[in-house]
Amino acid sequence: MNPQLIQAKAHDSDATSERDRRVLELHDQLVEIEERLIPTGLHVFGQPSQVVERADMLRMIASFDRPEAGARALPNLVAEHLGVTANDERVAEIVSRSVKEFVASGSEAAVILLATEAQVALDLSRPVFELLNQVSKQLESNGENQALLRALRGEYIEAGPGADIVQNPGILPTGRNTHAVNPYNIPAPLAYARAETVANNLLARYLKENGRYPRAMALVLWGLDNIKTQGEGVAQALWLLGVKPVRDSLNRVTEVEAIPLELLGRPRIDVVMTISGIFRDLFSPTVQLLDKAVRLVAQLDEWSEWNYVRRNVDEQMNEGDCEFDDAVARVFSNAPGNYGTNVNFMVLDSQWEREETLGDLFVTRKCFAYGRDSSGRSLEGREAKLAMDRALARVEATYQNIDTFEIGITDVDHYFEYLGGISKAVEQRASARPAIYLSDSLTRESKIRTLEETVRLETRAKTLNPKWYEGMLHHGFRGVAEIENHVSNTFGWSATADAVDDWVYTEVAETFALDQAMLERLRNLNPHSAHSLVRRLLEANGRGYWNPDPEVLAKLQEISNGLEDQLEGVV
Ligand code: BEZ
Ligand code: MG
Repeated sequence: MNPQLIQAKAHDSDATSERDRRVLELHDQLVEIEERLIPTGLHVFGQPSQVVERADMLRMIASFDRPEAGARALPNLVAEHLGVTANDERVAEIVSRSVKEFVASGSEAAVILLATEAQVALDLSRPVFELLNQVSKQLESNGENQALLRALRGEYIEAGPGADIVQNPGILPTGRNTHAVNPYNIPAPLAYARAETVANNLLARYLKENGRYPRAMALVLWGLDNIKTQGEGVAQALWLLGVKPVRDSLNRVTEVEAIPLELLGRPRIDVVMTISGIFRDLFSPTVQLLDKAVRLVAQLDEWSEWNYVRRNVDEQMNEGDCEFDDAVARVFSNAPGNYGTNVNFMVLDSQWEREETLGDLFVTRKCFAYGRDSSGRSLEGREAKLAMDRALARVEATYQNIDTFEIGITDVDHYFEYLGGISKAVEQRASARPAIYLSDSLTRESKIRTLEETVRLETRAKTLNPKWYEGMLHHGFRGVAEIENHVSNTFGWSATADAVDDWVYTEVAETFALDQAMLERLRNLNPHSAHSLVRRLLEANGRGYWNPDPEVLAKLQEISNGLEDQLEGVV
């Protein structure tokens, strides 16, 4: 064969494998979006959920082992009987069909479908559908209005656990008095076990992209999340440090113990924890536990190449003017009695000039240290700005755990105020943008995604997904406000982390503003939110986060002016 032909062939096969790789990647992304559970509207107080939503939710509930109900995860049952892995497409298809059959014709029909299609033994699948039957009945009824009336009359309200429905279907029926958690049981054994996988995946992802471990990470810990997961976020921090919780004679988690490096098999990662005001208030013993864990690790007699906490604390002390107690401070929150970072308010009010101001605001709000000093004196929110600046200067990756499908990073402004705020603060202090990760501990694989990937996924699955926005528009005025919130919260990820691709804004503009029929709908339902949405797009351009064609810009400006005139007429 002549050399040119060989080269052409080689080129051809390179191109083919590159093409195959990209097709496969595209396929994986489509499946990911397709499988995502998408809330299709808002909860209306006192109303049971819709039948369609119910099928999706039941499928998610059935995809986890439920030892308390004697039920195994449906995908595992089907996969075992087909002799394939649980991620196989055929498994997903059969599981999905069996849940649809359950919704249409009841448990026995679904049990028989699985026996015929995948040879799953009846006595294995029956407990799963019995559980779904119970959940389904509870979803159909709703005692919220009656409970509210009872509460207003000062009568007793039955108590029930607070959790995510997929994590714990025992939260049903709704309309009960939510009780939280015993902080001395945090992290619960199951949460600690689950957190190991997440922490390993997180470090594996960083290692793959950077060729080494991060010398320090900044974690965001929220109160409600740690209630829902019984402390998975807390447990992830402990795993990164390489310690395990120890229970006292009253079975309370009050101590920690270092996992020997030979068993850990990797360096101990330094972690800077920013806790919400709610976490601080609810989890006082846990705050002490986290501080104790850092202090323990910082004083272990270990090779500093394998103990980043110790290395960083030593370095900080050698920089001078820094005592051990300042160098080791890693648990930060608001001053006592204060809540939130205010970064969300600053971003949404558009009155800021430089992005650095957002990072500085975060630190100003959150630079209060909690724990206990070396003499055992309790630190209840001691001002420690310099210590926080120094700790953040060593951070190379930031991270927050997401534990529910109901609230994602663009549904509320709190994710960007916390994870975005701390990432911007790190970027200035470390003079490099950190890698920013989120976990999805609710999927079966406990997937780790970068912030950019998560923004893309949320945009595709929610903001730009007709299934999602039509569900919202169904709620009229409030629905338009929700759509506008999503756009503004997406903008928050530009402001704090430059994590939004141009196409996101382009498609938001095409879907909600440049489409004449859609614009009319938004305008009629809620002209205020329609106006804010268009203004936010113009602001994204003005601040350099989006670079559309001049005609698009001119058109948006014209729409904005039109809405302004309309609103002035209204007022
Ligand atoms: C929390 O649960 O700690 C939390 C909830 C909403 C916003 C911020 C924090
Ligand atoms: Mg950009």
